[in-house]
Amino acid sequence: ATVTISVDGANPIGPVNRRLFGGFVEHMGRGVYGGIYDPAHPTADAEGFRSDVVELVCELGMTVFRYPGGNFVSGYRWEDGVGPRESRPRRLNLAWHSTETNDVGLHEFAEWVEKVGGELMLATNLGTRGVLEAVDLLEYARIPHGTERAEQRRRNGRDQPFDVRMWCLGNELDGPWQLGQLTADEYGSLAARTAKAMRMLEPDLELVACGSSGPLMPTFGEWERTVLRYAYDDADVISAHFYAEPAGDDLASFLAAGAVMDAYLGDVIDHADAVRDERGSDKTLAISVDEWNVWYQSRMAATLPTGDDWPEAPPLSEDEYTAADAVVVGDMLITMLGRADRVTTACMAQVVNVIAPIAAPADGPARRRATFHPFRLTARHARGTSLSTSVDGPVSVTAQHGEVPAISAAAVRGETGGVVVYVVNRLPDRAVEATIDLRGEFGRGLGGLRVLDAVTMSAGHSAGATGDATAETGDAAAPRPNHTAAAHGDGVRLILPAASWSMVRLG
Ligand code: AHR
Repeated sequence: ATVTISVDGANPIGPVNRRLFGGFVEHMGRGVYGGIYDPAHPTADAEGFRSDVVELVCELGMTVFRYPGGNFVSGYRWEDGVGPRESRPRRLNLAWHSTETNDVGLHEFAEWVEKVGGELMLATNLGTRGVLEAVDLLEYARIPHGTERAEQRRRNGRDQPFDVRMWCLGNELDGPWQLGQLTADEYGSLAARTAKAMRMLEPDLELVACGSSGPLMPTFGEWERTVLRYAYDDADVISAHFYAEPAGDDLASFLAAGAVMDAYLGDVIDHADAVRDERGSDKTLAISVDEWNVWYQSRMAATLPTGDDWPEAPPLSEDEYTAADAVVVGDMLITMLGRADRVTTACMAQVVNVIAPIAAPADGPARRRATFHPFRLTARHARGTSLSTSVDGPVSVTAQHGEVPAISAAAVRGETGGVVVYVVNRLPDRAVEATIDLRGEFGRGLGGLRVLDAVTMSAGHSAGATGDATAETGDAAAPRPNHTAAAHGDGVRLILPAASWSMVRLG
């Protein structure tokens, strides 16, 4: 099959916000303890952070870090995690049936974020707490000095306020699994009241209202509209969470995840804009996809501790990722680049060990999982302006999602010239010959540019089925040079193997 991917430089989608390459760190499993923090590990630095993990997070190029949950935050008392370690309480982490030592809290996490050169984004507990606790935390974090909370922070060793602009107003409060689940009316009212109170302290915060936990929630849509009828004026951003999971050997359906995510984001935008229009507001909300990834969630159920067993940092969701998973991760990034005008923040869930691109075994060095690679290459090179692309090519027929476009693509014009194009072939068993037509960007030729780099990772050359133990994982799945890529007339021609993700850089 052949396909033409046309890049339309005259119609930019919008600037690519660096926050699109964020990560989410939760007190879940070995994400924090054993992941970012492990004083017993040979690479631990003076503060107990694993230097091997810090190095890989820097290499990955993550920009903003959402913390401390997730489901965990809905049972969290932030005060437990500040002050002298020896007086911090041990608590039940009800969300993940484990014990929380509170050895890591706001100060330690902020220090870690500084080490990896990122931005801190915090979530408040609106599940089992409310307005007062959120405002207390904000006072603790942001007031320079002279109030009880500010002085408490200073006594705890942090003279200057923490630099936190983005705050999530709770987490997934639509979910029956959530501690303190709320109805849309209850949550909308609480989110609006919390936001108003927080803005009394600091007017120009960026506040994220919880959208649905995913497109399959029975209340999806209704939830967004109801919540926003309360909170539209008070929030700046609405969240969307999206996880994909392979189902058996149905690779075609799994590879359609990017298309499913795109339709979901389109719906979230429509719901938000409908409330804007209803209210005659001149403000348009941004979207934060503050949790997204491939997650083998159904495997996790069997590993969750139960009964009287409340372990510290049990291994949870430490699945190895295959090349097929990495292709889907790359496709989700393509999807978000294609919506760069509205999706301004996204956090891969999560960062280390748990649902993560980095594995940090207790008895060995940290290493990359397969999903590390497309994330790193997108975070590194997709800097500048996202351009419209149109694809003229085949469809992929899937059992779960019907027909979806077989090829997805995103193009980004660099800040200092150059263009990078990301392409996914969603067909599980068929290579496609693609022409990236750049006339819409350069007129004729390649604007004096040449192909700097063309790489491809493919699940086609592995066992073919996801979840297959023989499929390539880790660095073995890393992209390889695509020697078929060559300048051709007013574009670039290359072969996209079955089930593949590719990057072509012109400079
Ligand atoms: O990332 C794992 C969990 O997924 C988070 O705690 C929750 O917000 C979501 O359901």
